[in-house]
Amino acid sequence: MPTCTATPSAVPAAFARRFPGPLARSAAHAAPLELPAVSFFGRTLAEYARFFALDLAALKKRDVLDVAAGPSSFAAEACARGLDAVAVDPLYIATPQELCGRVDADYAHMVAQMRARPRLFRLGGAGFPSIDAAETDRRLAAQRFLADFEAQRFYGRYVGAALPHLPFFDGTFDLVLCAHLLFTYASRFDFDWHLAACKELVRVSAGEVRLHPIVGVDGRTYPGLPRLRRELKAAGIASELVRVNYEFFVGTDSMLVLKRATP
Ligand SMILES: C[S@@+](CC[C@H](N)C(=O)[O-])C[C@H]1O[C@@H](n2cnc3c(N)ncnc32)[C@H](O)[C@@H]1O
Repeated sequence: MPTCTATPSAVPAAFARRFPGPLARSAAHAAPLELPAVSFFGRTLAEYARFFALDLAALKKRDVLDVAAGPSSFAAEACARGLDAVAVDPLYIATPQELCGRVDADYAHMVAQMRARPRLFRLGGAGFPSIDAAETDRRLAAQRFLADFEAQRFYGRYVGAALPHLPFFDGTFDLVLCAHLLFTYASRFDFDWHLAACKELVRVSAGEVRLHPIVGVDGRTYPGLPRLRRELKAAGIASELVRVNYEFFVGTDSMLVLKRATP
């Protein structure tokens, strides 16, 4: 368990160019998964690289934002590889100890769901031989995240904020990622929220926004997707569905790529 020892000192220059205002403290369609709230559950950089089709070498020194990052180790691992990654999640206003507690509770629930509904999972499509292996990998992600969160939370790598409002200047990031929030939790967030969230993600990106997956907890494509893409197009945002070399949960073999359309 992390102990709360980090104290704020000098704020890095990257802060000033990113934040307009003061930071907060810092198939078989079987029964759907039962996720009563948005789970604090996360994956490693290796999994992100697959479901977002990332070219990590090309992203070196680039500003990359991971929104709804949860206890994913993407930002920690990406920064260790020379990317300039920032992670956003509403729960990042909590202490490391509080987040440890959320990890314990939400991982137990999520893993129980995975074991109870094996027909919803295509483990091999994500490179896992078993649910045990997937659980071990995701727990490793949470451990890496918790250690990095404790060390970096006062230095701008972890930002407490919630879609559809992000505390960054327009076009701050070269690439913006958002996994397992939009579409996954469509029963908790309505169509207007999804539209506003997409526009906000595009606003803070100077390049692409990548969203994964495009299915809900029943493994079916988000029913509002055609209308969402139409309304985004009307707002000057191009969208493309891209197949990726990945499938863990049934139907998670695609991402949605958004980009400001060129005039
Ligand atoms: C299932 S986790 C996904 C973690 C990570 N992106 C991954 O794919 O491994 C979903 C995260 O979304 C966060 N979340 C909930 N509401 C949000 C909002 N309105 N804006 C941004 N993130 C939100 C939750 O706190 C949770 O950590």
